[in-house]
Amino acid sequence: MKSYSPQEIDLIKKQLKTDFTYWYHKIDLGYDIVTPGFDYDPLWSNIRKVRGGIDYKDKTVLDIASYDGLWAFEAERLGARTVVATDCLYRTFKNFMFCRDVIGSQCIPYYNISPYNLAERLDVFFQENFDQEKPYERMFDIVQHLGLLYHLRDPLLSISQARSCIKTGGTLLIETNVIMDTDESFMLYNGIPFTHRVSDNYSVWWIPTVNCMKEMLSASLFEPDEASISIVEFTPPLLSKISRFPKQTHKGAKDKDYRVGRLCMTARATNPQDVQPEFVRELERTFRNPGLDIYYK
Ligand SMILES: C[S@@+](CC[C@H](N)C(=O)[O-])C[C@H]1O[C@@H](n2cnc3c(N)ncnc32)[C@H](O)[C@@H]1O
Repeated sequence: MKSYSPQEIDLIKKQLKTDFTYWYHKIDLGYDIVTPGFDYDPLWSNIRKVRGGIDYKDKTVLDIASYDGLWAFEAERLGARTVVATDCLYRTFKNFMFCRDVIGSQCIPYYNISPYNLAERLDVFFQENFDQEKPYERMFDIVQHLGLLYHLRDPLLSISQARSCIKTGGTLLIETNVIMDTDESFMLYNGIPFTHRVSDNYSVWWIPTVNCMKEMLSASLFEPDEASISIVEFTPPLLSKISRFPKQTHKGAKDKDYRVGRLCMTARATNPQDVQPEFVRELERTFRNPGLDIYYK
């Protein structure tokens, strides 16, 4: 934490009120200053609980879909050596930079990178070898994939890209909404824009069941850690109730009442050599299964 005079603290408080309107996280900037994020504390406590099983000391960390940067800053606070924060949302970039500056963080932001193109777009970070580093030595020890999966039309592509950025043996920390109370393995299609079975948020595409989540990880060269799984019941408020979002003009189709929660878990990046060879050969056909494109390096 940087130290500030009382005048500087007042200025930070003033800037927070006047220069920024679009916050998601409650980020502790020190001096009793916290960014005015949503009241999603149960969800965030769940992430912190699962994250407690990971050692961040001296690790390199990738935080995908970092938004205001909460999880990147916290990774750094937990002792990570290098933290890279990616997103493709310029709207929150200045919020991230404001917090980074106030905290005195060294997190490296790349806010023009889609979760579908991580391996390709982080090429400079991965390949640079001026200081006796070998290309791809900077593959990440820990990848944080939080609050993102259900926003994506192609969740498997994104999980595959996370695997392509992580060292074999590294840890994925993933958090998503899930359908509870079923042993089945499926992803419910939310049905936006006409049906919205679970959420009226038009950027919510899918809600996987817990088994589906585990199986998608296994299918992307991760070994899910069953013991890490933690689920809390959490229904985000209807967007139509949050004034800054446009109201949906349809009522939605409730085929069934799904109990929806938030799941957080870890998974270990498996060595492709330990996986069934025929299956790996299929994954290596990236013209059929795009995403797992550099994991063997
Ligand atoms: C709910 S916020 C989660 C923020 C943070 N990772 C967390 O878990 O607290 C969703 C994040 O996903 C990103 N996002 C949403 N839809 C996306 C999409 N279709 N493609 C890429 N990123 C998306 C947003 O930019 C935002 O950073």
